[in-house]
Amino acid sequence: MLLKDKVCIITGGAVQIGRAFAEQLLKDGAFISIFDLDSDSGELCCAELQQQFGKNRIIFCHCDVTDYTQFEESFLTTKDTFGRIDILVNNAEIQNDKFWELETDVNLNGFIRGTLLAYQFMSKGKGNGGTIVNIGSSCSTKPFVSSPIYTATKHAIIGLTKAYGDQYHFNQTGVRVICYCVGPTESDSISHSRQNNNTPNHERARKIDMQGMRYQKLDHVAKELIPIILNASSGSLWLVKNDEKSKEIPYSNEIF
Ligand SMILES: NC(=O)c1ccc[n+]([C@@H]2O[C@H](COP(=O)([O-])OP(=O)(O)OC[C@H]3O[C@@H](n4cnc5c(N)ncnc54)[C@H](O)[C@@H]3O)[C@@H](O)[C@H]2O)c1
Ligand SMILES: *[C@@H]1O[C@H](CO)[C@@H](O)[C@H](O)[C@H]1NC(C)=O
Ligand SMILES: *[C@@H]1O[C@H](CO)[C@@H](O)[C@H](O)[C@H]1NC(C)=O
Repeated sequence: MLLKDKVCIITGGAVQIGRAFAEQLLKDGAFISIFDLDSDSGELCCAELQQQFGKNRIIFCHCDVTDYTQFEESFLTTKDTFGRIDILVNNAEIQNDKFWELETDVNLNGFIRGTLLAYQFMSKGKGNGGTIVNIGSSCSTKPFVSSPIYTATKHAIIGLTKAYGDQYHFNQTGVRVICYCVGPTESDSISHSRQNNNTPNHERARKIDMQGMRYQKLDHVAKELIPIILNASSGSLWLVKNDEKSKEIPYSNEIF
């Protein structure tokens, strides 16, 4: 698979990691559609990237991933604009266990809505096949004691990736499903949502979760995604942490 002229949707792509993905994929010749709830950041990101990569290569769609109708309309707008859809990066999230119902609706149900829509638009017959990338966390495998419910949502998308990513589904849809787990990554002042007041002695819990981890660079996280999008097999799980080369995460299909 080559990225040149592939059409890629990134949810939560207005800032931070999602925006870094957009920039990297544009460099590799893709067309980008950013879906985000935050219109101010989305429009700004879109304008800045248009200036750098050309007006016709990127659009912004206002989209709340908890709203199926808005999500579907954004897919339609993307298809109308670019003529096809090849890649969905499920990236939008919130991290705050205090608002656990919303957290689950964004981080898990939002990924499910995205997946169902991606099949609707990309499956062989309706589309040309494609790729779904679910963005996980280091807590997709190693629980964060500071954020049990966030951890649950990031574990759940491993199951979503393994089941839909299986050869059984790939055979019928031509859509690969991959999970790219990201360790702690540097953030700017816009990143807000990470104080998590639900856990007693939250700061101490955060220290435990950060053991062995240091904040890595945004552009490292974005660069490491490219070979995975190009090459990773459906159902595979990957982790990028501490600015190291990404590694495949082992997984057992066994019943114990
Ligand atoms: N930043 C880190 O240290 C880190 C660590 C591990 C995993 N990750 C993962 O990387 C991904 C991106 O993280 P980030 O730090 O860039 O996030 P962020 O919180 O900085 O940005 C998330 C984006 O999602 C958008 N969003 C939130 N709710 C939405 C909704 N209902 N509909 C549409 N958009 C919505 C926000 O507006 C924002 O633009 C997430 O999936 C996260 O789990 C990040
Ligand atoms: C997928 O298709 C290939 C080729 O047709 C076939 O060999 C394989 O058994 C199929 N796998 C599943 C799980 O359906
Ligand atoms: C894809 O995988 C093959 C085999 O593992 C490897 O030789 C090749 O360099 C990879 N390509 C990219 C772009 O990572």
